[in-house]
Amino acid sequence: MSLNGKVAIVSGAAQGLGEAFARALSQQGAKVVAFDVQDKITDVAAKIEAETGNTVLGLVADVSKRKDVERVVVETVDTFGGLNILVNNAGTWKETPVDSSWEQALEDWDFIMDTNFKGLLMLSRACTPHLQATGDGDIINISTYYVLPAKSDGTNQPNTDLYNASKWALNGLTDAWSKYLAKDNIRVNGMCMGATDTPMLRGLWEDGEIPPELKDVVIQPEQIAQQMLDLMADGRTGENIGAWVGEPVVIPPRAPDNLRIAGVR
Ligand SMILES: NC(=O)c1ccc[n+]([C@@H]2O[C@H](COP(=O)([O-])OP(=O)(O)OC[C@H]3O[C@@H](n4cnc5c(N)ncnc54)[C@H](O)[C@@H]3O)[C@@H](O)[C@H]2O)c1
Repeated sequence: MSLNGKVAIVSGAAQGLGEAFARALSQQGAKVVAFDVQDKITDVAAKIEAETGNTVLGLVADVSKRKDVERVVVETVDTFGGLNILVNNAGTWKETPVDSSWEQALEDWDFIMDTNFKGLLMLSRACTPHLQATGDGDIINISTYYVLPAKSDGTNQPNTDLYNASKWALNGLTDAWSKYLAKDNIRVNGMCMGATDTPMLRGLWEDGEIPPELKDVVIQPEQIAQQMLDLMADGRTGENIGAWVGEPVVIPPRAPDNLRIAGVR
């Protein structure tokens, strides 16, 4: 798949899945704007650019802050003249037990939702006029395998209600946007991966090591990045694409209309 001449934005690209998405897009020839709250994004962007030979602009920005989001999009369009691809990857995670204090619950709501949901909404809204102007675009919303009920078999974690809710909430955006933006030739899909070897996943264990039973089967970020390229090449819209530990990471057959967002076994 050649992405020569295309322009992409990836949020949360300083490590893990976001870094893999930025690298994969750059390897295919796209000009990439990679942004993150962490300062190391500028080094990561420079490294990818050196590897691929294609321009990667690294910006420090917080997706939960409207001004930052608008700055990223303005800088993208000013630098590259347009926009074709948005990967809404930035996400955050923490335990939020349902019996914590009210104060804690509201603080956690802001922490999780401002990035995972409101940030994604703001970034997408800022990008949409530019994608519409281009007349050919992709929005990829990074979700999680919990939201594919037919397959997840009730694996929503009991102690992360807000993270779970933030990812379920994306379905409302993916579904509506895919239908509304079809007239502009903009495809909108969700990607719903299982355990993928990133700093977020490794943070689940005190020693930062993937346990032996998961080590050989954990999904690699590069596999999900390839799945994203395959999804864009496939051209479908309005669907959640799953990836499960221990199974091939592929694009499944097109789901029937009533199961596109819910997912199929
Ligand atoms: N790793 C997994 O197993 C897994 C599974 C399902 C879904 N996901 C989702 O994939 C996405 C990437 O996760 P990851 O595992 O690579 O996580 P990670 O924590 O390793 O990387 C996330 C990146 O996002 C950045 N980020 C966080 N908040 C931000 C903000 N407000 N503004 C800008 N950047 C911000 C972080 O600094 C970090 O660089 C997330 O949306 C996550 O929920 C991950």
